[in-house]
Amino acid sequence: MSADIIDGKAFAATVREKVAAHVVRLKSDHNITPGLAVVLVGEDPASEVYVRNKGKQTLECGMNSYEHKLPADTPEAEVLDLIDQLNNDPAVHGILCQLPVPDHIDSDKVLNAISPAKDVDGFHISNVGLLATGQKSMVPCTPLGCLMMLRERHGSLSGMNAVVVGRSNIVGKPMAALLLKDSCTVTIAHSRTKNIEALCQTADILVAAVGRPQMITGDWVKPGATVIDVGINRIPAPERGEGKMRLVGDVDFASASEVAGAITPVPGGVGPMTIACLLANTVTACCRANGLTEPEGLTA
Ligand code: GUN
Repeated sequence: MSADIIDGKAFAATVREKVAAHVVRLKSDHNITPGLAVVLVGEDPASEVYVRNKGKQTLECGMNSYEHKLPADTPEAEVLDLIDQLNNDPAVHGILCQLPVPDHIDSDKVLNAISPAKDVDGFHISNVGLLATGQKSMVPCTPLGCLMMLRERHGSLSGMNAVVVGRSNIVGKPMAALLLKDSCTVTIAHSRTKNIEALCQTADILVAAVGRPQMITGDWVKPGATVIDVGINRIPAPERGEGKMRLVGDVDFASASEVAGAITPVPGGVGPMTIACLLANTVTACCRANGLTEPEGLTA
C-alpha cells in the first residue's frame, strides 16, 4: 500500500472538540446553550441507530438534544405542525428530519417546512440555492465533512481537477458545489456517464458517492490522487462465517490504496465526519441566530 490513510474517526474527534469548546464559550459568555431537535417518523432500524448516535453526541458536546419520535402512521399535517412548533421554539437552533420518511409523507414538503436558518441538514431549497450561487448557507453534513478532510490534506484546492461520482441531492450535487466554490474544476459523473473510468483517471480529487460496492477500482485512480469514499455498503463476508456481513465503500480499497496518494477507509473515513458536521452546523446556526461570531474552521 502506498496511500496515506485519512483517519476520519480521529478528525471527527477534533471537530467535536472544537464544537464543545465553542459551546462552553456560548454558555459562559452569553448564557446560551445550542439545541438540536431531531424528528424521526417510523421505526426504520438504521434511522433509529443514526438518531440515537446524533442525540448522544449532541449531549456529549454540551448541547441540548430534543428527540421527537413519531409513529409510522403519523399524518403529514402532524409532522408539519411539529416542525412549525420547533421553528418557533427559541431553545431549538437546529432541526433535522431523519430520512427516509414513510411513503404517505412528502419529504420535500417536510424539508422545506423547516426554517432555513435552523436547517442543519442544508436540504431546504433556500439553502440549496444559496450554496449553488456561492452564498453563505447551511451546508449538508456529509459533503461538508469531505470538504474539511480535503482542506486539511491540501490546504487550497484551487485549480485541482475534481470528479464526483454520484448526483444525489444529499451528497453528489452539494459536494460539487462546494468544490467549485473552492475553485476546483468539477465534473459530476453518474450511471449514464460515458468513459467513466477514463474520466476518473483525470481526477486529482475523486469523490465516490454512488452506493455501489467497490465499483471504483485502482485502475480508475490517477496516481497520487486523493480518494474520498462516501459509500457505506453491506456485503456478504463468508470468510467471517456463514451469514456474516461486512461494510465496504464504493471504492475497492485494496487496489485503490496502491495507486492513490491518500484515501478514506470504510468504515472510519467519511462516516464519523457526518455527525461531527451536524454538531458543527448546530453551533453555526446558534451563533448566526444570536448575531455572534461563528466558530472558525467549522463552516464552508
Ligand atoms: N438519512 C440518510 N442520510 C441522512 C442525512 O444526512 N440527513 C437526514 N436527515 N437523513 C438522512
